[in-house]
Amino acid sequence: MKTTINQVKHYVGQDVTIGAWLANKRSSGKIAFLQLRDGTGFMQGVVVKSAVGDEAFDQAKGLTQESSMHVTGTIVEDARSPFGFEMQVKEIEIIHEAVDFPITPKEHGTEFLMDHRHLWLRSKRQHAVMQIRNEIIRATYQFFNEQGFIKIDPPILTGSSAEGTTELFHTQYFDEEAYLSQSGQLYMEAAAMAFGKVFSFGPTFRAEKSKTRRHLIEFWMMEPEMAFMDHEESLVVQEEYVSFIAQSVLENCRLELDTLDRDIEKLKEVQAPFPRITYTEAIELLEKLGFDDIKWGEDFGAPHETAIAEHFDKPVFITHYPKDIKAFYMKPDPENPDVVLCADLIAPEGYGEIVGGSQRIDDLELMKQRYDEHNLTGDAYKWYLELRQYGSVPHSGFGLGLERTVAWFAGVEHVRETIPFPRLLNRLYP
Ligand code: 4AD
Ligand code: MG
Repeated sequence: MKTTINQVKHYVGQDVTIGAWLANKRSSGKIAFLQLRDGTGFMQGVVVKSAVGDEAFDQAKGLTQESSMHVTGTIVEDARSPFGFEMQVKEIEIIHEAVDFPITPKEHGTEFLMDHRHLWLRSKRQHAVMQIRNEIIRATYQFFNEQGFIKIDPPILTGSSAEGTTELFHTQYFDEEAYLSQSGQLYMEAAAMAFGKVFSFGPTFRAEKSKTRRHLIEFWMMEPEMAFMDHEESLVVQEEYVSFIAQSVLENCRLELDTLDRDIEKLKEVQAPFPRITYTEAIELLEKLGFDDIKWGEDFGAPHETAIAEHFDKPVFITHYPKDIKAFYMKPDPENPDVVLCADLIAPEGYGEIVGGSQRIDDLELMKQRYDEHNLTGDAYKWYLELRQYGSVPHSGFGLGLERTVAWFAGVEHVRETIPFPRLLNRLYP
């Protein structure tokens, strides 16, 4: 019976065959312990000399790291390992012998690992991180589908910029100039006017010269957009969504969180509702905490966000930022037009801004005024203005950065480990 490691629980006491690679091994004169991996998981294979005979035992002892094989044996329960099962190996058929796999079980430097990312991905830790990433994606589709959203795919090649023009990747589009999308938002607004509640999930690109543990050049974003919803209603969707994906990871990725030594008590606290403070209150809080390097009207840096987050035991919404440090499309607060109806969700434990969102300007004249202030001329933005011309409605949306969310849930220090092939300031390889 051919199966995979994540299915062996159904075969206790039976003989199965698994296609696997050798992740690691240790052996003595009489017994060899093979750390097998098959893509779905990791499992120990035990080879006992007296059971398999000299020849098969020597073959097992001589296996090199990352060699591929078909391994056949009996599945037994193993209470000592977190995985819970192991294989008593009967036979190994080598498919390909690997020589000198560069990522040995010893410690390696970050640059070395990044240069070998295509091989590093095979490690147990990276496997756990990618499983958590996958679970967040799965739970995202579940959450939005159950809430009546439909998935809409905005374009990647675009003529417009949603988040400012300084961080765009330029490319040639036949005779026109085009950019790689920084955000699908503007198109998602058009989609919300056609379908009500929509969400997207796709790659976005920022030519940011930032070299921090939170910044990627290419990252993936979930972008819901909702017609007939104001800022406050959007915050409720955001906190319920973030709680849902956190609890899904807790429920379905226990082994992975274990592998990563994640403190799960912290994750259990990620339950709606989340606290909210205004930008102005956050500035006052920072002053009280002794920060003298920021004043009203300036944007927060990572140390500010971390200090604010440490004040709460859950993620915290910072709302009502000054209009001048936020994007052109955000709706001014009717009670104070110097600030906008927006929020950033700051994760605990120093993981920074996870979500950015706002209510959008729905008034045609005000949007025209913003176009003038931001120099948004030409045909590229004409269509976006027309959304305010035909049945304009209050609407809101937000963007959740997938890699920062993975880093937070998995307890991984740097976002470079949360995407299979990270694009960083000085890295396009592999
Ligand atoms: O705050 P941002 O720039 O918001 C937008 O793009 C809006 N148009 C979204 C919307 O309302 N539909 O980005 C949203 C999120 C951030 O909160 C952060 O989690 C992530 O995207 N993000 C990055 N992640 C990794 N590397 C970068 N360079 C990122 N820039 C933003
Ligand atoms: Mg932001």
